[in-house]
This record gives sequence, structure tokens and C-alpha cells, in this order.
Amino acid sequence: MATKVTPLRKPEARQSVRELAAAEMGVLRFITCGSVDDGKSTLIGRLLYDTKLIFEDQLASLKKDSIKHGTQGENIDFALLLDGLEAEREQGITIDVAYRFFSTDKRKFIVADTPGHEQYTRNMAKGASTADLAVILIDARKGVLPQSKRHTYIANMLGVRHIVVAVNKMDLVEYSRARFHEIVASYLQIAEGLGFESITPIPMSALKGENITKKAETMSWHDGPTLLEHLETIEIADERANAPFRLPVQWVNRPNLDFRGFSGTIIAGSVKPGDEVVVTKSGKISKVKSIVTADGDLPQASAGDAVTLVITDEIDASRGDVFASPDARPEVSNQFTANILWMTEEELTTGHAYLLKIGAQTVQATVTAIRHKIDINTLDKTQGHALGLNEIGFCNISTSQPIAFDPYKVIREAGGFILIDRFTNQTVAAGMIEFTLSRSTNVHRQPMDVTKASRGLLKGHKPAVLWFTGLSGAGKSTIANLVERKLAAMGAHTYALDGDNIRQGLNKDLGFTDDERIENIRRIGEVAKLFVDSGLIVTASFISPFRAERDMVRGLVDKVEFIEIFVDAPLAVAESRDPKGLYKKARLGQIRNFTGIDSPYEPPVTPELRLDTSGAKAEELADQVVAYLHRQGIVGAAVDQSLDFSI
Ligand code: ADX
Repeated sequence: MATKVTPLRKPEARQSVRELAAAEMGVLRFITCGSVDDGKSTLIGRLLYDTKLIFEDQLASLKKDSIKHGTQGENIDFALLLDGLEAEREQGITIDVAYRFFSTDKRKFIVADTPGHEQYTRNMAKGASTADLAVILIDARKGVLPQSKRHTYIANMLGVRHIVVAVNKMDLVEYSRARFHEIVASYLQIAEGLGFESITPIPMSALKGENITKKAETMSWHDGPTLLEHLETIEIADERANAPFRLPVQWVNRPNLDFRGFSGTIIAGSVKPGDEVVVTKSGKISKVKSIVTADGDLPQASAGDAVTLVITDEIDASRGDVFASPDARPEVSNQFTANILWMTEEELTTGHAYLLKIGAQTVQATVTAIRHKIDINTLDKTQGHALGLNEIGFCNISTSQPIAFDPYKVIREAGGFILIDRFTNQTVAAGMIEFTLSRSTNVHRQPMDVTKASRGLLKGHKPAVLWFTGLSGAGKSTIANLVERKLAAMGAHTYALDGDNIRQGLNKDLGFTDDERIENIRRIGEVAKLFVDSGLIVTASFISPFRAERDMVRGLVDKVEFIEIFVDAPLAVAESRDPKGLYKKARLGQIRNFTGIDSPYEPPVTPELRLDTSGAKAEELADQVVAYLHRQGIVGAAVDQSLDFSI
């Protein structure tokens, strides 16, 4: 993706004053989102014009261009100032991310101007990935459109914390206060639940320069700030500086035998000589001896500084390692979930190997499951096995080696990655890590002499997981209980794992958000795996609403050992049974995220067994399960005596 950087010249005399004041407030990075017709370029052009950042020569050529290409008759067409490329002008669209720098007495600004067309979602994502604030432009005549939703969602996904709802072209709706409030109300409906720190609506006319830098008399009813006032004064917490220390090692600086330092740019937090640091992958801890830079040693360095760390001990670290504060370490994992924005024509398919680059770390990676896709216009979650150009999916990812990261929402630079096609070297996706699926660091498998096979031989049956999935109230626990009784009567060794029970012990720290359910099933999966390894037949009765997690558990044991049993009861049936009265509470809004009500259930596509609970008694269904185990030779069959039972 090419980046067009167009710095505007600034009056030299003003620069120092401005820079002094601006340094205090820091730089505000923002992005403008809207389509050509919303007046986005006009807005930025107006902002620059009114802050006197356009010069005589530019103005002269702008006037000339306005007459030739403009849409404003004899008047200046500010949009032309922004749509820098000739090709774009001819097409009447803007087609890349253009960064503009400008400053006022109060602050410095970097604005990313990105196109609003659907096919350029990735450009917007790129601009948003470094922005503190997004200006969402809405045409007052048209109101909130699907694209406003799309822009808001992408901004949120890319970590933008502040929103300005710029209701533009107020002049064309007679500066109607009612219309403004109507638009703001419908915008808040989509944006309020997303967790932005601030949402500031401003009525304006970019074309007329109203409420951009000057208060509009035409809209005296608006008691909020003008756009510039807001941009100048909004407080942006310096999240990078406040976050725990992270330095990804770009290279090991070893000019001679007497010097060894680790070079890179600090992406979060700060460090000073004497501080303890940990090399995240090896877990080795040492202290900072000095912080070396081209301008001499520093007493302290923080996010954004390019430094070379010299450490007191001879510890090993190489390119791709991350130095961090030992009391707030990054995750180190080879399994995690991430939002992926697919950026190329050839579709993403699960199971395909790509290169994943995060900071200075590059590893092989596969998307093991697309948990759901996001319909970018409606924001609905949809199912799918592939991602096309500009589509967004929430995915499980597995890497060949563990990588160090923080969730993107916590530290953007430590949780953002790209996927690269191994053959064409093309960047095919941008990704934002959400959370880890396993936390194993520095754990090595210990070989054991008594194996699963030898344990199975002692028991006289084969181990298996009978995974009962279905809605709450479908009958999972009841049927599993009957199956276990029947198996025990046959002399089989069993163990029952049950949602309600496990949630009072091992998983009592977990609730019912998507993340918590995923963690619930991940832990159960690991426990079931251990029991299978010990030779037992395990029943597991969990709603386990997500296909991806059930598949994950399936992948933990041998293929023949995982038996997915869909306890199929339609919602209406489960709800009418309502054995614990929970559906009733959920309908009354007393329980949130209740499966089937306000949290999804993804039925199995090809389960080993489907039990139709509407037509049969629990007893009969349990018999069906036992019969299946017989057919599969898990119970009842002669144990294979040819196993090498050598202990
Ligand atoms: S899972 O989705 O994470 O697999 P699990 O099977 O462990 O769920 O727990 C489901 C049980 O918790 C239900 O049978 C019900 O008794 C109880 N429960 C309490 N709150 C909820 C909720 N919001 N959604 C579903 N079940 C709930």
C-alpha cells in the first residue's frame, strides 16, 4: 500500500511558537471517513484554508483548478486541494491514504484522508490504525447510511477511541436543529455500545465554513464546540506511554567483543537504567545497564524512542524477541483469536499457511477457523469458510512457534500484524489480536512409559469423549447421565464433565460472554483430553455454542476418540421446558448473553450423532448413544491384543 505524504509548508516565524504550544498538547492523529459526496475533502480543505495553511501560490493554482475541474462554479473547490492525484480528479474519487500535517497555536495534527468507497476498506483501516480520533461525515440530507456504520465499526476495530459525528451540509436542511438531533440519535444507536471514549456530534457546513473553525450564527442553537476547537482541546491519553514496557528487538548490535546491545524502537511504556527486564520467550530476567542512542546515553527512554539497550547479564536475545517489564509481561502463545481484514482478490481459506509478521517477529501461521464473518454494512455476524477482498472475519490462528503479543485493544503496536503470502510476498491481510487461546510458555512434553494404549488395554474398552452439545434445557445432562449409568453397568470406566458443575469449580471465574465461553470450552477440552489419555470414556455436556471451539476440542484427541452428539431441541421446545427458569429470566432481561436469546448457537454441521429430542424419550436416546459406541468398537468389542504392551 503506497502512502502519500503531503506536508504543507508552514510560516517559519510561527513555527516555533506553535511547536512549543503544540508540544504540550501532543500531536492529534485523526482520520476523516466519508464518501466523496459527503464533502470530506471539502472539510479538510476548509480546515487548512481557515487555519491559514494554504499559501498564495497554492491558492492561485487552486483557483485555476477550481474553474477547470471544480464543482463550485467560480468559487474555490476545496476538495481539489486534497484530491492531489490527477487520476483521482478525473475519476472524481480519492484513492489512497494521504497524510496531511498542519498545526495551530494549540496543537499539531496529522490527518489521514481516506476514501469512502467500499473497495477501499483497507485504506481506511490503514489510516485508522494510527488515529486517535475519527471524524465520521454524515450528509445531513441523507442521514446515517450503511457506510457510516462501516466506518464506525472499522474505526473501533482498529482501536480509534474518539469519534466526531460531523453532520455536514446543514445549509441544505435549513440548519434544522431537529434534523441534527434525529441524525445524532440514530448514530448513537449504532455506536454507543462499541465502547468509544467520546462521541461528539457537531452540525456544520464545510462548504460555507460553518462550525469548522468559526461558530456558525446560522446554528446558534448548537452549544458545543466547532470542529477545530474540539480537535484542539480533546484530551488524548497517551496510552503508549502509560502501557507496560515493550521493546521488540530489531537487531543485536555487536560491533566488537566489548559491546553488545539490543536495538529497536520502544513501542510501549518506558525504561531506565536499573530497571528489570525480561526476554519474553525465554523468560530470562536481567537489568538495564544503559540506554544507548546516537545522541549519547539516556537516563530514561519511552514509547517511540529508537534505542539500544545494554543489559547487565550475558543473556541471549535475538531479532524477534521482546524485552518487557517482568511484572506485566506480554502473552506468549501459538494460538489466539484475531480480527482479520482480508486485502487481496484470492480468498483466505482455513488451513493454508501464510507468514505472519508482528513487530520484528515472523513465523508461519494458519487460520484454523473463521469463527464468524462481519457483514460490514449491517454489522451482522455471518458464517463462512472463506474471506474475500475487504471482508472481515474473526478467526482462530495457530502459529508454528509461539509469539509474544498484547491484545490489540491494549497495545496496538504489540497486537497488530500482517499476513504475507509465502510465494508472492504480497501482504494479504491485516490482523488485530483479540486474545490468546493457550498460555503455555516454556513447557516441554515429558515422555511417559505407560501410554494411553496400555491403559486402554487394562480397562477393556477404548477411551473416548462423548461431546453433548445443544441449547440449555435440550437434555444434554439428562442423556449423558443415563449413558454414563449404562456404561458403568457394563464395567466401563467413565467420568462426567458437566457445565453447571464445572462452573462451580474449575471454571467458577468464567461468565457467559463469547470470550468466557471460549475459555470455558478450551479448559474443558484440555481436561477431557487428560481423561481420554487416562483411558476413560468421558461425557462432556456443555452448550458449547461455537463450532470453532468444538472443532478445537476435536483436534485435541485422536480422530476416532471425539464423538460429537448434537442434542437437538428447537429453541421453542427448550424454552417451553425451561427446567431452571432461566429462559424466563433471559426474556425479562434479567440474564444477559443467554444462548438462543441474545447469544448465538451454531448447530453442528456433521455431528457423529444427532439426537432428536422431540420424538423420543431420554432413555431411548441414551440407548442410541450406547449402540453407536458398540458399532464403533469403543465398548463391547474384543480388545486389540496386538498392542505393544511392554511394561
Ligand atoms: S457454555 O456456553 O460455556 O458451553 P455451559 O454449558 O458451560 O455453557 O453452561 C451452561 C449452563 O449455565 C446452562 O445450562 C445454564 O444452567 C447456566 N447459565 C447461566 N447463565 C447462562 C447464559 N447466559 N447462557 C447460557 N447458560 C447460562
